[in-house]
Amino acid sequence: MSSETSPSILVLNGPNLGRLGTREPDVYGAGTLGDLRELLEQDAAETPPGRSIDLRQTEDEAELLRWLHEAADSGSPVILNAGAWTHYSFALRDAVSLVTKAGGTVIEVHLSNPHAREEFRHTSVITAVASGVIAGFGFDSYRLALAHILRKSPTIR
Ligand code: DQA
Repeated sequence: MSSETSPSILVLNGPNLGRLGTREPDVYGAGTLGDLRELLEQDAAETPPGRSIDLRQTEDEAELLRWLHEAADSGSPVILNAGAWTHYSFALRDAVSLVTKAGGTVIEVHLSNPHAREEFRHTSVITAVASGVIAGFGFDSYRLALAHILRKSPTIR
């Protein structure tokens, strides 16, 4: 299957992640979302057949829900950093669940290790319905998730 027929890999980012680079660099690193997009595009280009990366960020929970509905319909695999919504949004959990229950892939990622931080970050309401979780490795959390998707490509959805 060529990249033209494989759906894009969606890299969805929730609130405050557009501020990467200046937001708590000691916790989240100095790279921006633009830097992350470049890294992921390079990784994808180096792995035949070369799938496209569609990286998005929103401060609007409803928009993130709509993107997940889109993934359920298109079959695009998803790498998801839902930011603080991870810890309390049951609507988000339901949207992740509708993708994975339909056979789709949603990999939950975090730059930091939430379990090593404040107590409220220890709960994720999405982990139980996600395909898997990678946390604590900065941009490598996303790159490891992408490596999994690319390894399974083109069959993974
Ligand atoms: C985060 C961890 C969350 O607790 C936090 O609210 C974020 C970023 C991470 O990538 O480490 O916004 O998801």
